[in-house]
Amino acid sequence: MAYKIAIVVGSLRKDSINRKVARSICSIRGDNLDCAMIEIGNLPLYNQDLDQNPPEEWTRFRQQVAPVDGVLFCTPEYNRGVPGVLKNAIDVGSRPYGQSVWDKKPAAIVSASPGSIGGFGANHQLRQACVFLNMPMMQQPEAYLGHVTDDSFDESGCLKEGPLKDLVTSLAHAFADWVDMIHRSRRLIAEDSAHAAQRQREHA
Ligand SMILES: Cc1cc2nc3c(=O)[nH]c(=O)nc-3n(C[C@H](O)[C@H](O)[C@H](O)COP(=O)(O)O)c2cc1C
Repeated sequence: MAYKIAIVVGSLRKDSINRKVARSICSIRGDNLDCAMIEIGNLPLYNQDLDQNPPEEWTRFRQQVAPVDGVLFCTPEYNRGVPGVLKNAIDVGSRPYGQSVWDKKPAAIVSASPGSIGGFGANHQLRQACVFLNMPMMQQPEAYLGHVTDDSFDESGCLKEGPLKDLVTSLAHAFADWVDMIHRSRRLIAEDSAHAAQRQREHA
């Protein structure tokens, strides 16, 4: 059974290279990852005053993220940080307090840029928020994709053969394994606890 994955892209640009990278990852592991792109460009800016009566866009977004098994973030770097639109989506999903839709969801962060350091700053700034939000974050391979341009993709938006595609392929496999490992471990721990409780009852 495929895991349900929310793809959250930190760029609103029509021809976003990050969006294309996200699509590539999904198609490489389409056997195991059932991916849905969650749009964030229409989310009103987070305002705590609205928590009692949230805009419907916030509610829809939270409802889209809540049931998924994992999250894949693909983001550009803006001025060495996370694009505002993505930070806003993180904040919207994290509230109301105690009802964060990000909680416990395994995730990975990919940053792609035409620049040479591949959005390292944005990647780690986003990671900081995700770790705080209790998301188990994939550690390796690190995914700072540098020198990515329109030319890295063919006319249908697929990655051309080469080292970038090789790296994205290994990322896709690692992410599918990461999500599987987190969910499998949780199931095993739950089974273990159930067996232990049963043994206790039998010996009581
Ligand atoms: C406001 C702004 C700030 C940017 N700052 C950075 C930056 O700090 N580092 C970087 O590598 N690229 C930076 N760029 C260039 C983006 O990496 C480039 O536009 C990239 O294509 C955006 O990703 P996208 O194609 O997914 O939209 C910036 C672009 C914009 C519009």
